[in-house]
Amino acid sequence: MIKGQLEGRRIVLGLSGGIACYKAAELVRALVKEGAAVQVVMTEAAQHFITPVTLQALSNREVYASQWDARAPNNMAHINLTREADAVLVAPASADFVAKLLHGRADDLLSLLCLARPIERCALLVAPAMNREMWAHPATQRNFAQLRADGAVVLGPGCGDQACGETGDGRMLEPEELLDELIAFFQPKALLGKRVLITAGPTFEAIDPVRGITNLSSGKMGFAIARAAAEAGAEVTLVAGPVHLPTPRHVTRIDVRSAQQMHDAVLPVAARHDVFVATAAVADWRPAQLAEHKIKKDGPSQSGRLVPSFELTENPDILAAVARLPERPYCVGFAAESRDLLKHAREKLARKNVPLIVANLGPATFGQDDNTLTLVDAEGHRELPRADKLSLARALVAEIAARIASDKT
Ligand code: C5P
Repeated sequence: MIKGQLEGRRIVLGLSGGIACYKAAELVRALVKEGAAVQVVMTEAAQHFITPVTLQALSNREVYASQWDARAPNNMAHINLTREADAVLVAPASADFVAKLLHGRADDLLSLLCLARPIERCALLVAPAMNREMWAHPATQRNFAQLRADGAVVLGPGCGDQACGETGDGRMLEPEELLDELIAFFQPKALLGKRVLITAGPTFEAIDPVRGITNLSSGKMGFAIARAAAEAGAEVTLVAGPVHLPTPRHVTRIDVRSAQQMHDAVLPVAARHDVFVATAAVADWRPAQLAEHKIKKDGPSQSGRLVPSFELTENPDILAAVARLPERPYCVGFAAESRDLLKHAREKLARKNVPLIVANLGPATFGQDDNTLTLVDAEGHRELPRADKLSLARALVAEIAARIASDKT
């Protein structure tokens, strides 16, 4: 996780009553760690679940709970608290609190400040937390639909075990998930309504049932691009080779193993996308024959040890195949080289017939958390200086968005 992604952001964190209040402590800590200034406001019900003492200590700010709080010289906490805020996040948002919000009722400090916030520049985000029957109830569903229609952003809920012992929809998202949602909320929506298809990671080409040929790609860059594209508002499909990375939020993931499987997952859907980013380090070759059983060290005659030899056959070039489609998406290729970066990138641009190649040094990027990228197109090249992969992914996404907006295909 990169530090300081909420640097300079001012968040009012509102807690209404619910057992998920225990997660709010962790959330405050996560927000503060990312650089946000967090002002906690609690309802009376929330204070039955967690004390202001804990939240004051974690946020390093006095907590507000009453509309009659006279600490502010003008005695108007409900106005003051949102005038400098970038967003109000209500987490947990109880069924009762949301019912109150959507009617514009304002009989406690939190509902009062939600109503009194400057609606154009201080967003309202709500993270529901309630029993599954309460969540599924038509009244609750109606209330949340109306809340969305009024411009609020509803985060979750999650699904799973509930404190009441039941299982289903209604859990508050985990603090880490809420943090990612908030970070994403503040990213520019440069790809809103666009569909983006991404390949990531290595491929694994089987030799026999237990062995295979693969490479050192970690998938981190492709996963970062998937996250950045989703943050930018795109509908993202990520076709991933064998990697152990969590799926970014709101990304549809398809797991594959071999280059052929990756090809078969990508080709039928590629034309339905606006952008295709091929970050996968696809194996160029695979063994021509797959041994049905594990190849043993001893030969069948037991007469001596054999060193097996393999014939290789070429894998399909996924990027080139997508670029050949009549209704092709905007295609972006990657070039991981060990030398002569620009020369190889230019060759790839022509050979694969794509408008943009992102070049990087393979040994310097595989498995690393940061990198340097060089964008190469028909007109020249431009460097994105060394940064963490998520920052580079966001810069690349902004670049792609600008290019498709100007129809530079
Ligand atoms: O062909 P080469 O490996 O030099 O090009 C790398 C670029 O092509 C990357 O974007 C990679 O994802 C893509 N590629 C592919 N299918 C292959 C080989 C490479 O999509 N079989």
